[in-house]
Amino acid sequence: MIEKRNWHNLGLLLIGCLICLALWNKTSNPSISPDIPIFSRSITVYKLYTQNTSGHHNQFLYLPEKDYTQLIDLDFNFTLVNFGCNETNNALLLLVLVHSSPKNVAKRRTIRETWGKKDDNVKLLFLVGSVNSTEIQNILEDENSLHNDIIQGSFLDTYRNITYKHVMAFKYAIYHCPQAKYILKTDDDVFVNMPTMIKFLTFDLSPYGASNVLFCTPRFNSKVLRSYRSKWRVSFSEYPYRVYPTYCPGWALLYSPDVIYALYKEAQKTDYFWIDDIHITGTLTEKLSILHTDIEYLVLSEKNLGSIVENSQNVSVPFLYGRANMRDKEIRALWNFSMLHDSPKFIFRDVERKYI
Ligand SMILES: *[C@@H]1O[C@H](CO)[C@@H](O)[C@H](O)[C@H]1NC(C)=O
Ligand SMILES: *[C@@H]1O[C@H](CO)[C@@H](O)[C@H](O)[C@H]1NC(C)=O
Ligand SMILES: *[C@@H]1O[C@H](CO)[C@@H](O)[C@H](O)[C@H]1NC(C)=O
Ligand SMILES: *[C@@H]1O[C@H](CO)[C@@H](O)[C@H](O)[C@H]1NC(C)=O
Ligand SMILES: *[C@@H]1O[C@H](CO)[C@@H](O)[C@H](O)[C@H]1NC(C)=O
Ligand SMILES: *[C@@H]1O[C@H](CO)[C@@H](O)[C@H](O)[C@H]1NC(C)=O
Ligand SMILES: *[C@@H]1O[C@H](CO)[C@@H](O)[C@H](O)[C@H]1NC(C)=O
Ligand SMILES: *[C@@H]1O[C@H](CO)[C@@H](O)[C@H](O)[C@H]1NC(C)=O
Repeated sequence: MIEKRNWHNLGLLLIGCLICLALWNKTSNPSISPDIPIFSRSITVYKLYTQNTSGHHNQFLYLPEKDYTQLIDLDFNFTLVNFGCNETNNALLLLVLVHSSPKNVAKRRTIRETWGKKDDNVKLLFLVGSVNSTEIQNILEDENSLHNDIIQGSFLDTYRNITYKHVMAFKYAIYHCPQAKYILKTDDDVFVNMPTMIKFLTFDLSPYGASNVLFCTPRFNSKVLRSYRSKWRVSFSEYPYRVYPTYCPGWALLYSPDVIYALYKEAQKTDYFWIDDIHITGTLTEKLSILHTDIEYLVLSEKNLGSIVENSQNVSVPFLYGRANMRDKEIRALWNFSMLHDSPKFIFRDVERKYI
């Protein structure tokens, strides 16, 4: 009798425990939280224009007057600046803004001689910060008077200051190149397959421009690096969470002007965080509910890079970009390749395009 009652109680206790466990599991398991955009990759969020629009020109009229001389929490001015977006008959397809380090004279030369060659549809500019040495400054100014393609900001050019550079890129696009239909932010060690890019923007997207464009290569659930040995170490006071929001590496970011404008306004009033791609394409896009469109499959694979550079072979997979950290020789080989091999007209896999 006693034994039977004990078994009965034990059974109830066990069932109770299971229910508790299940409830606890449900509330504590983040993978079932509804606000994580698991399917964000397959949703078409951008819209394509079907006719000329004055859309986002003169947006800066709505910015406060002191905005121009402010960069997040710094007083700012352009110490070197070039205009000329208005020279391209008011219908500039693409503005390319290349993050560069003041000393990278050779890398800038490679780009000018290859994929950055002058083109009526494209305006390419290099972005640098300020330098300590008057010697380097003089070299920069000579280089600029020859090519008229350097934008320099008044903040010191250090890797902890790259977020300033990225937001300066936005500032330039908004104030000095509102004509551009698309804006590509990239780095000086990247290959951009420009003939394919122009076709992509014109045929796969739209020559009249688009909105809600942030085309890139998203990274999910990246852990915050805390090791003192890491160059990218972030302290808890800089960033308290364990993982970063979904973000895109900064070497290949294709934006439409409306996205630039929204991110710029948010960046100007948000606390500084020094890893630019995480801050801008992660933290700020999450805040503004801007979604990434994944175009990882349009980045040249390591294998195909080898085929082209080492074996001078044709590859059948179209690509928009080489990758980050390319060597001079690789960039030149890819450029030769892109001049010889025409890409197909349509390379975008996203078939559910939306028009406005
Ligand atoms: C807890 O949740 C995980 C993932 O949803 C599931 O696989 C597991 O069976 C659950 N455990 C219990 C005790 O419900
Ligand atoms: C848009 O309008 C501009 C100026 O009116 C014109 O020069 C340009 O060719 C037009 N663009 C397209 C794609 O039709
Ligand atoms: C930019 O700011 C620096 C330092 O604040 C100042 O020395 C310089 O004259 C300014 N340049 C222009 C063009 O306003
Ligand atoms: C382009 O803009 C610059 C700066 O605003 C101006 O000085 C220049 O005259 C303009 N050029 C043309 C062709 O409109
Ligand atoms: C700038 O100069 C100062 C003093 O000469 C030096 O301590 C600092 O490291 C320099 N910074 C850079 C980025 O070169
Ligand atoms: C960033 O730039 C500002 C403005 O030039 C400078 O005061 C600061 O020392 C720089 N920060 C770092 C970490 O180099
Ligand atoms: C290279 O490959 C592409 C895609 O298969 C093809 O269209 C093109 O004709 C090829 N070019 C040469 C020179 O073989
Ligand atoms: C690219 O082509 C040029 C001209 O045809 C040639 O001189 C150069 O060696 C080539 N470079 C590479 C890396 O293939």
